[in-house]
Amino acid sequence: MSRSYYVTTPIYYVNDKPHIGHAYTTLACDALARFKRLDGYDVMFLTGTDEHGQKVEAAADAAGVDPQSFTDRVSQNFRDLIGVMNCSTDDFIRTTEPRHVTAVQALWRRLKEKGHIYLGSYAGWYSVRDEAFYVETELTTVNGEKRAPSGAPVEWVEEPSYFFDLSKWQEPLLAFYEANPDFIAPESRRNEVLSFVRGGLRDLSVSRTSFKWGVPVPDDDAHIMYVWLDALTNYITAAGYPDTDGQYSKRWPADLHMVGKDILRFHAVYWPAFLMGAGLEVPKRVFAHGWWTVEGQKMSKSLGNAIDPAALVDTYGLDQFRYFMLRELPFGNDGDFSHRAMINRMNSELANDLGNLSQRVLSMVAKNCAGAVPQPGAFAAADEALLGAADALLESQRAAYDTQAFHKALDAIFDVVGRANRYVDEQAPWTLRKTDPARMATVLYTLVETIRHVAILLQPIVPGSCERMLDQLAVPADARDFDRLTPDYRLVPGTPLPKPEGVFPRWVAEEEAGS
Ligand code: MSP
Repeated sequence: MSRSYYVTTPIYYVNDKPHIGHAYTTLACDALARFKRLDGYDVMFLTGTDEHGQKVEAAADAAGVDPQSFTDRVSQNFRDLIGVMNCSTDDFIRTTEPRHVTAVQALWRRLKEKGHIYLGSYAGWYSVRDEAFYVETELTTVNGEKRAPSGAPVEWVEEPSYFFDLSKWQEPLLAFYEANPDFIAPESRRNEVLSFVRGGLRDLSVSRTSFKWGVPVPDDDAHIMYVWLDALTNYITAAGYPDTDGQYSKRWPADLHMVGKDILRFHAVYWPAFLMGAGLEVPKRVFAHGWWTVEGQKMSKSLGNAIDPAALVDTYGLDQFRYFMLRELPFGNDGDFSHRAMINRMNSELANDLGNLSQRVLSMVAKNCAGAVPQPGAFAAADEALLGAADALLESQRAAYDTQAFHKALDAIFDVVGRANRYVDEQAPWTLRKTDPARMATVLYTLVETIRHVAILLQPIVPGSCERMLDQLAVPADARDFDRLTPDYRLVPGTPLPKPEGVFPRWVAEEEAGS
């Protein structure tokens, strides 16, 4: 039976249109899902929308639509984005679906039966934007108004509420983090969570009574469930919960919850506590990535500067956008989107370094090797060094993907691309054509085989372009998985190749193009 891999994005609030921040998380998960599939895993890649709560209710109200029609419409935007970004999701969950309502209510009953939920009343601060409760000491005052640590406004709430006994989970959580040092990444974020939990935990309000848009609490429908308890449960709903036979045991616990740093606490503190309380397994890892700004500014509705990923795909190309998002920042860090940076990356790395290499080499093969994979002679040290570097890539890719270090994965691949470019210049096959055609064939063979490795390994990041590169190398569709990256599956000399075509166009500014 093949190994399984279950990766999730957060489920996105349907109060707004998707922007590049949302696209980022989904793209990172897509790269992981594709990588693991190519590496022989049985993958489940989950995304979806978070549709209950006060924030969504308010957004529906503002739009003058009932919440269900509103969420139907906005959820569809997130679903459409998956297609626009060529993401390979396996399931799309909506928290308004019956399967999810069943799962959340089952989880609630279980927590209640085990004595972890009790009725009380809440009096304290709440931020609708964060959908989070805060204590006075966490707040700051800006222009006379109290604000959450995220900068979001807060309001005073007093209402009957059920509580989850989070305070009892401090020690079990700390023991769990200690025993599972890779559970929270990156390290700096792990330390933040540890110090938050060491500071002590208060019982968590897990139901609301002052509005209606949510999952009713079983046997007490004056209450609806706190949106985060509802939302986090999506990860087990999609694995089949409450049916714990069948798919569930194969999928759960998830291998990775990918989240933005803003919602790490919910995933690394509340979620494992709920699961432990219910006697369910805890996910293997939560990775909190950084936050994008745009041209130096926070993306926000009020500034009107949120960037639509579909517009970037239209302007620069799909794979160019995918590449940029996963290349530009050390994954985990915050970063800034700018058009200039986008153009630099696509022109210097995709068009110049990789595109030119492949176009140059394939054109020489088309002209000088009768349009077929060249027949190599004995390999010289320089050829073996390049092929060796290409063969060694898979291991470094695995290490990078397993730690969600997409930038390192790409660094390693582009290091080989750089070596290949230097090798072309040093070996000068255009000169060998006249002086030593047999040697020219060996050099070109070494290069096309190196390009095969690069194109197979870049599939998770730029799938469409790699498909075209591999078509040009006449690599059959069923020979593009990572198990083909060994010397046993080298390109077969004499295989006819199609006419080469450029895969990574340069982006030329309109004023340059017009002149
Ligand atoms: N609905 C909750 C998550 C529930 S998961 C059980 C939520 N939704 S959200 O729509 O606000 O999306 C949050 C996620 O979108 C962030 O965690 C992050 O993954 C992504 N991003 C939103 N804006 C972002 C940036 N500006 N930059 C990077 N990622 C951002 O929170």
